[in-house]
Amino acid sequence: MSAEKIKVPSVLFVCLGNICRSPTAHGVFEHLVEQAGLTGKIQIDSAGVADWHTGKAPDKRSQQYAAKRGYDLSHLRARQVVLEDFTTFDLLLAMDGNNLKHLLEMSPPEHRHKVKLFLEFAEGVNEREVPDPYYGEGEGFELVLDLVDNACQGLLNFFRRQYAL
Ligand code: 4NP
Repeated sequence: MSAEKIKVPSVLFVCLGNICRSPTAHGVFEHLVEQAGLTGKIQIDSAGVADWHTGKAPDKRSQQYAAKRGYDLSHLRARQVVLEDFTTFDLLLAMDGNNLKHLLEMSPPEHRHKVKLFLEFAEGVNEREVPDPYYGEGEGFELVLDLVDNACQGLLNFFRRQYAL
């Protein structure tokens, strides 16, 4: 038997700093996947287009608001998107239009089809973007969680259909 690793379906959540929106999506999706009994069957990660917060835990406010809904983000650490991510991941999901533009510019042409707005997976919402909560107040973090909860459920449904999980 070869010890070769079997590649599982994978998703990378991407925002600007990788300390608010994308780690929230990362932690919420991990939780949903675990609850669905699919831990290890989907590879999940997050990254920022900027390198400002590399190595840092998620913003305290993101951690606190997520914890109120039962999501633990404390184990996550920020990193910047790297070129290899476009080959590693099946989906690279941008939180807003600026992140999307950055990823599309950075992506090798053959991987551009993997880059999408995260809220394409949300159901029944008018928003296209998850607004940056960093410079605002508490309700911004609640809105991030509302949108992330919705889109993560849609994303899990997509993975189940697409990969027969
Ligand atoms: P995020 O939010 O992209 O959701 O992680 C931000 C975090 C930090 C900064 C901006 C947005 N910043 O300017 O440091």
